[in-house]
Amino acid sequence: MQHILITTNDKKQQYEELYLQLIYLLEGEPDLIARMATTCAAIKEAFNFYWIGFYRVIENELVVGPYIGTLGCLRIKKGKGVCGICWQQQKTIIVKDVNEFPGHIACSNVSKSEIVVPVCQHNQLIAVLDIDSEEYAKFDEIDQQYLEQIVKLV
Ligand code: SME
Repeated sequence: MQHILITTNDKKQQYEELYLQLIYLLEGEPDLIARMATTCAAIKEAFNFYWIGFYRVIENELVVGPYIGTLGCLRIKKGKGVCGICWQQQKTIIVKDVNEFPGHIACSNVSKSEIVVPVCQHNQLIAVLDIDSEEYAKFDEIDQQYLEQIVKLV
């Protein structure tokens, strides 16, 4: 069994370590679901966030893909929730307090803050990566910068 090894308390360094190990883990694997599932598991091991998962664009909806956490909703429409707005605006959305975000879809009342990152291939948004925390204001521009790099590996 393989594990992600994190050796530092510095968030940037933690992301650097995760990124390098993820390159190695995904090397040669062509299947998108396998890559998404492994990315979720690796992020979970590195940071132990509450909920980590992908929603994939299928026809005109986001449909839940590989995730780690409590039950997520299955489908999200464009423009709905943080994920649907990320899809519509094609940019990363950081929510410091989900209670303050109009239209936020609460899959669990444990979640207090959230980041949603677009996953693009060939200039098309094919999915979003949604990460939730049980702490307020867990995510910032550092998470954005590194997660935007990590989703390029998917
Ligand atoms: N909170 C998300 C919905 C997905 S769950 O958090 C797993 C949203 O508002 O889009």
